Amino acid sequence: MLAGDGIGPEVTDAARRVLDAAGRAAGLSLEYVDDLVGGAAIDAHGTALRPQTLDLCRRSDAVLFGAVGGPRWDDAAPGSTARPGAAILGLRKGLRLYANLRPVRVDPAMAHLSAIKPERVSGVDLLVVRELTGGLYFSRPKRRYRTVRGEAAVDTMRYTTTEIERVAIRAFELARGRRHRLCSVDKANVLESSRLWREVVSSVAPRFPDVSLTHMLVDSFAMDLIRRPAAFDVVLTENLFGDILTDEASMLVGSLGMLPSASLGAGRRGLYEPIHGSAPDLAARGVANPIGAILSAALLLRFTLRSENAASSIERAVTAALVAGLRTADIAAAGEPVVGTETMTSAILDGLR
Ligand code: IPM
Ligand code: MG
Repeated sequence: MLAGDGIGPEVTDAARRVLDAAGRAAGLSLEYVDDLVGGAAIDAHGTALRPQTLDLCRRSDAVLFGAVGGPRWDDAAPGSTARPGAAILGLRKGLRLYANLRPVRVDPAMAHLSAIKPERVSGVDLLVVRELTGGLYFSRPKRRYRTVRGEAAVDTMRYTTTEIERVAIRAFELARGRRHRLCSVDKANVLESSRLWREVVSSVAPRFPDVSLTHMLVDSFAMDLIRRPAAFDVVLTENLFGDILTDEASMLVGSLGMLPSASLGAGRRGLYEPIHGSAPDLAARGVANPIGAILSAALLLRFTLRSENAASSIERAVTAALVAGLRTADIAAAGEPVVGTETMTSAILDGLR
């Protein structure tokens, strides 16, 4: 359990209670170990991610992660290990979690919560598979330097065949368990790395003849994600495109607070976290939406513990709480009564029983 900063501790506490209840009902007994990460670890140990913490994660089946960061730690030098964001990037890289799954589902009963017209988002059920350990986030060179005309900075978008292939295989496999459609998103009209991306993804396709593969350019995909979101099934894309597109996709649901994610590597181990940040302005007020974290716990049950029943029982309980009208502030319409983290969590726990 790496709760982190801001609303991280509140939402991971909610997720742990729900995970525990659903796990127990499925006959699983889970053992939890807590550690500090992000700003909390910087305060206690001077670094966002201690090597011991990474080891602890390596010895665990799964990591439930909250969020890191806050204004208190914003001044650290870029690239410094005293930056909270270094924790999540270090965990992804250190645990080799190259595939980040971000499901986006809009139950017809919840379509009115969306920022987009309900008739467009009703029935949306897509899964973004974001490459997580390559591209602009990690490739070298990555630095600032002086030139005769002033400062310059460089980031590198580099991909190897192996990096593309393994995440593509994961996306094809996932499409196979869903509606058999895969859309790969790139910028092959401009970027060399995207041309390799498209080539490698296409080369994997013959191994999955039952999955239909299409390619889209990221700019036009960004538009179609609003125009016809229900048309997509599995969407595969590189690291930065996936980061940007999933924040956009959260508006289909209505709030960043609703989206879970699973980060997976070659085996079963995974890191599970809501896609939202630490929201320092909401911290310790009991108002945060715990649903992104709770749905992340459901993904943990599905992908690491392979307990599909327990996973879907959580998802049904979340839907039931929303259908019953419970709304945290981030998803309430004007004039709708608002509940806090605790009431939402209890309702979901009740729904499990
Ligand atoms: C995300 C976040 C992270 C990212 C940040 C916190 C480094 O935005 O998980 O989407 O950019 O990957
Ligand atoms: Mg992001």
